Amino acid sequence: RAKVTFHTLQEKKQSGRPITALTAYDYATARLVDEAGIDLILVGDSLAQVVLGYDTTLPVTVDEMLHHTRAVRRAVKHAIVAADMPYGSYHVKLDEGVANAARFMKEGGAEAVKIEGGANRVQLVERLTDAEIPVIGHLGLTPQSVHRMGGYKVQGKTTAAADVLLKDALALEEAGAVAIVLEGMPREVAQHITHRLNVPTIGIGAGPDCDGQILVFHDLVNLSFSKPAKFVRQYGDAASLFRTAVDGYLHDVERREFPNESESYHLPKETRAAFEA
Ligand code: KIV
Ligand code: NA
Repeated sequence: RAKVTFHTLQEKKQSGRPITALTAYDYATARLVDEAGIDLILVGDSLAQVVLGYDTTLPVTVDEMLHHTRAVRRAVKHAIVAADMPYGSYHVKLDEGVANAARFMKEGGAEAVKIEGGANRVQLVERLTDAEIPVIGHLGLTPQSVHRMGGYKVQGKTTAAADVLLKDALALEEAGAVAIVLEGMPREVAQHITHRLNVPTIGIGAGPDCDGQILVFHDLVNLSFSKPAKFVRQYGDAASLFRTAVDGYLHDVERREFPNESESYHLPKETRAAFEA
């Protein structure tokens, strides 16, 4: 299997082959996802909710994101590893945004960073691109904007709002973005943006016409402890698998059925007698 690059994704768009992407936040899941042959692994700031237990993505820090990015980096041989820039790490000053992004590349081993926002991020995307940092844009339902949006709501539902999304997408592409995540928008809007862009779109809750799809790993396997959104398809039930395993262990330990004789170490035969005496 060849290393996946943004050229690979571009070729996939051109030839109409779907791009596959998933999040991963640690070594074990990143290995499984990479070995399955997924094209792009995102260390998403959704980890704030699904592995750190926060209510929103806002509290997670650059250092916390880096910790997870390094674990994923150590696991992945083929997929592109991209890291989410967390809230506050690129919203204040351009220089700060570039410096934080460089940390994801240098300390985290990321091959790209993802930032949320449209026309308001154009200068930053230009600066990052100039600093040799591939940028993935993210438009539509952008979770870091939860308070401004007044909740997690599908975006681009009027022709005016859809037009803003298209203009944002074109502005990000023009600024140098190598791919754009389209989240939580009508299928028709995502299809139109995908058609108009040269760079690939990767959809989540944006219908089947994007150049690729991404989901949160924990949603895929029922480990996110929340009512799944309309766009989630659950492909496995890790919660029930893990529960069964923990229940079984608890049961066996309480009944002294674990560990058994063959799961125990023993003294050599010659010395055993001294202990049995
Ligand atoms: O943080 C995340 O998981 C994401 C993807 C779902 C696009 O941003
Ligand atoms: Na994210």
